[in-house]
Amino acid sequence: MYLCVCRAVRQSEVDRAIDKGCMTFKDISDQTGCSKECGQCAQTVKGYIDQRFDTPAMGSLRLVG
Ligand code: FES
Repeated sequence: MYLCVCRAVRQSEVDRAIDKGCMTFKDISDQTGCSKECGQCAQTVKGYIDQRFDTPAMGSLRLVG
């Protein structure tokens, strides 16, 4: 599933960025290129990131940025 249509960034790419240690929206945007064009995907990407970090395995870690 694409999270960012402009840059063709898939959910799996965001997952990989997180797995490599990206912890903020900016880190993930810099790593994948998402939200670097129209920006309409920003809330979707941020929501997905929040969802990933809200999993029990990640505890209560919160993202900023
Ligand atoms: S949809 Fe992501 S920058 Fe346009």
